[in-house]
Amino acid sequence: MSSSLILPEIKVPAHPVWPEKSAAEKQAQKQRIKDLLVQQNAVLVAHYYVDGDLQALAEETGGCVADSLEMARYGTTTDASTLIVCGVRFMGETAKILNPEKTVLMPDLAATCSLDEGCPAEQFTDFCDQYPDHTVVVYANTSAAVKARSDWMVTSGIALPIVKHLASEGKKILWAPDKHLGHYVQKITGADMTFWPGSCVVHEEFKSVALQRLRKLHPDAAVLVHPESPDEIIDQADVIGSTTALIKAVAEMPQEEFIVATDDGIFWKMHQVAPQKKLISAPTAGEGATCESCAHCPWMAMNALDNLETLLKTHGNEIEIDENIRADALKPIQRMLDFAAEHNISGKYKKEAP
Ligand code: 13P
Ligand code: SF4
Repeated sequence: MSSSLILPEIKVPAHPVWPEKSAAEKQAQKQRIKDLLVQQNAVLVAHYYVDGDLQALAEETGGCVADSLEMARYGTTTDASTLIVCGVRFMGETAKILNPEKTVLMPDLAATCSLDEGCPAEQFTDFCDQYPDHTVVVYANTSAAVKARSDWMVTSGIALPIVKHLASEGKKILWAPDKHLGHYVQKITGADMTFWPGSCVVHEEFKSVALQRLRKLHPDAAVLVHPESPDEIIDQADVIGSTTALIKAVAEMPQEEFIVATDDGIFWKMHQVAPQKKLISAPTAGEGATCESCAHCPWMAMNALDNLETLLKTHGNEIEIDENIRADALKPIQRMLDFAAEHNISGKYKKEAP
């Protein structure tokens, strides 16, 4: 790739501190939010990494809790006129691109993602122009403008089969922005791939030697790894996959203990599907480390009951996208959704009937 590429420095915010609440206060607040959702014909579309109270509320009110693939798909299947996306900004943008007639709101529009921030559209366009004979495949964690310059969008849950399919057609692939996921996909598929050098500040922090030590302490535990993690972490995994794949592993594998290398917001759903199993966070830089070293995405943490209630009262924080960009960004997303439908690939864990 071009050596002249100088990427922006990512400013990682501190985790927001939300006021403590008693169970009764929380219950009352959840009820007020439920009433507002009904009055406004709104549904919650939440990611597995957000606060457990939000995931529970989304489920209790008929919304969706899922990975980025299913979050994208879900908005197109509901009759609600307002989608409230509890996650990070690219998820809200994808919902708006697919559902221009719906109002798409987010508790905090500043909730971004280091992959998205580290792949500015203008530089990305120059990069693509250097490889005119390549098929451009971008990860969901990108801006609408970057998607608009791409041929395909993928999420972690569908990247492998899509790249396999493109490789079988003899396509050379330009991949952006997550280099770790890209290297993993290349290793499995053998595809001809050129990489943008982005990474996730949360997954980047998992530490290889500390993980080896932890595995020795828990020899019976299965190691579950999201493929945004560095290669040395992926190499130690028993299961590598999207958030949905990791939840499925906890629910269906025989092990009683799991070492989990992804954002610990996922523990809420893992506990729900397998309450008796023990979950251990894979080690990061440890105590005293910076905020990005805590296995919890600071941008996902910007979603909470408090700003959700404020949002429903004020109707701010609407996602808006330029129509030309939206129309171009729709094509790679729709391609992915059509591929998912054709190959029966889902982004939500459903328990198999016994
Ligand atoms: P999933 O699509 O696997 O949920 O991943 C989204 C994400 O941002 C992980 O950091
Ligand atoms: Fe982005 Fe990483 Fe946060 Fe996922 S966990 S939203 S990839 S910064």
